[in-house]
Amino acid sequence: MDTQTAIVTGASSGIGRELARLFAADGYNLVVVARQREALESLIAGITRDHRVAARALAVDLADPEAGRRIEEDLARAGVLVDVLVNNAGFGLQGAFADLPLERQLAMIQVNVTTLTELTRRFLPGMLARNRGGILNVGSTAGFQPGPFMAGYYATKAYVVSLTEALAEEVAGSAVRVSCLAPGPTATRFAEAARMTETRLFRGGTMTAAAVARIGYDAWKRGKILAVPGVSNKLGVALVRVSPRPLVRTIVKRLNR
Ligand SMILES: NC(=O)c1ccc[n+]([C@@H]2O[C@H](COP(=O)([O-])OP(=O)(O)OC[C@H]3O[C@@H](n4cnc5c(N)ncnc54)[C@H](OP(=O)(O)O)[C@@H]3O)[C@@H](O)[C@H]2O)c1
Repeated sequence: MDTQTAIVTGASSGIGRELARLFAADGYNLVVVARQREALESLIAGITRDHRVAARALAVDLADPEAGRRIEEDLARAGVLVDVLVNNAGFGLQGAFADLPLERQLAMIQVNVTTLTELTRRFLPGMLARNRGGILNVGSTAGFQPGPFMAGYYATKAYVVSLTEALAEEVAGSAVRVSCLAPGPTATRFAEAARMTETRLFRGGTMTAAAVARIGYDAWKRGKILAVPGVSNKLGVALVRVSPRPLVRTIVKRLNR
């Protein structure tokens, strides 16, 4: 079979960078997307040194409402067909909803929700037409309950989990696989960017980006729809499902401060 291409957003760091490496190691050509061009170029240099695949970098701000259209046009011009879309780029904001700057919150919704949705809608029809490939969306354990003091972020991830599970059912019966990787606290630049390194949640321990990416990648390959990495994260999600909602809200409020 011909070589397939995977596009990975947020590949300049953390979980996305590790996911890009895993696709390359399996022989996928790569398109890596993020704002930091240099980090993408150095990732590509390593990937093309270690694996016989083609890789290209697209330095794009996914908070720009034009980003999805630009990415599709760039790839169409280059004759690149997207077989696998990894919607990994995202960021969080810790703080009271009423205090966090509105423009940052809207940018977060644009990156975590709107551009993810747009890229999914732009590339999924081609995957279904060719009956191969798929989508791996990076949600979060934050997506399973409301998150006081990270209210907007938790809501974006609830959207990602819900959208992905629904799409996975819609494409069932085709060879296209749609999965959601829902990590808990992971040692990346995320916590620093969200200003939450000192929260109880992150002081409670983290997984490595490499371990989380491996679990997500293997789950997607096996056609597993929802992957929550790590025993304590799995336990947390299970407990949320059976606990009274007021209790869940109170505990998460404590964890996020
Ligand atoms: N770390 C955790 O504890 C954790 C837990 C659950 C879920 N997640 C999710 O995992 C995903 C990856 O995060 P990470 O933990 O690997 O954090 P990270 O190291 O901060 O990586 C985030 C990636 O997203 C990219 N990104 C952020 N804003 C962007 C924008 N406006 N335009 C383009 N790219 C943008 C960043 O690239 P540039 O800065 O170069 O643009 C970077 O490559 C996110 O969706 C996050 O919500 C993380």
